[in-house]
Amino acid sequence: MISPTLPAELKAALDGKLVGFSRTDAAQRSQKISTTYRKGGGSGTIKSEADALAYALARMPATYAAVAASLNALTEIVPSLAPGTLLDVGAGPGTASWAAAEAFPSLQDFTLLDANATLSRLALDLARDSTRLAECRYLPGDAGGNLAEVSQADLVIASYIIGELGEADQRKLTEAMWAKARHALVVIEPGTPAGYARILALRQQLIAAGAFVAAPCPHDKPCPLAAPDWCHFSQRLPRSQAHRQIKGAEVPFEDERFIYVALTRTPPDSRAARVLAPPDVGKAEITAKLCTEDGAALTKVPRRDKAAYANARRWRWGDAVIAES
Ligand SMILES: C[S@@+](CC[C@H](N)C(=O)[O-])C[C@H]1O[C@@H](n2cnc3c(N)ncnc32)[C@H](O)[C@@H]1O
Repeated sequence: MISPTLPAELKAALDGKLVGFSRTDAAQRSQKISTTYRKGGGSGTIKSEADALAYALARMPATYAAVAASLNALTEIVPSLAPGTLLDVGAGPGTASWAAAEAFPSLQDFTLLDANATLSRLALDLARDSTRLAECRYLPGDAGGNLAEVSQADLVIASYIIGELGEADQRKLTEAMWAKARHALVVIEPGTPAGYARILALRQQLIAAGAFVAAPCPHDKPCPLAAPDWCHFSQRLPRSQAHRQIKGAEVPFEDERFIYVALTRTPPDSRAARVLAPPDVGKAEITAKLCTEDGAALTKVPRRDKAAYANARRWRWGDAVIAES
């Protein structure tokens, strides 16, 4: 399991770039960038080095935490996965590559694909002195087109990019990414109903193409949740002083809401139920919303069943758990 906080080398590289960078300027730029995102405008407003840095300062810790949590979920279900090569699709400042380097000591070859030259320059800058990423390759331009030209990689990750594409392009990119994933594909999106819908569509598309779901779902069946119910997770991460300044935030932490799917070429050896919401710990029993092979259900664990109750007390939203019956 890797930590949700940025690795020391990345933090040092970011801190180095922030020397002399006005927090007020960063706050204004990141505000403008997130307003554009909320309106569905994607990362198109990130045009200058200062924009890219403001974006990285505001969002990289949270998207890193979401990728880290998704990769932790994958490695828990497929502990034997040891990829040597990575394609980071829509890499931005390189967030997913850094998280994958932490999660997989086996990774040696990193290829970053991104259409935004400014963000990509920042990615290469941040990686320059890194032990693992210094030799990473960057492919500029449309990821869909570039994927057609590259060799397969053991692991493909697409973190927070699918939502920047129209529906037809989402399907095309999904197909292209799966074609290049030798062992596994992990896709992460914001934890919103729209992000969930995109992940659901991608999941269905790739199950139909022969993929297996390693996480979060403990099955390859259609999602058992019926609208308006939906699925997402939350990762808590510490907020640095600089981050608090640019976000105007008081609390020293943030909770990143995200949704992900990890797909593999071979079926996982074992699967566990997934906790879909914070469990309710009551006096007489613990009630937890679990997704199991047989569907989603509220599971009740009575206090009188001491061992099962002690086990269920440790359950957290997003965990893969064995529910004793
Ligand atoms: C929200 S950022 C996410 C960056 C990074 N993966 C992360 O999680 O922090 C989305 C990235 O996708 C890139 N992108 C969007 N559409 C793209 C396309 N068609 N081809 C390549 N990159 C694309 C953008 O340039 C941007 O860097």
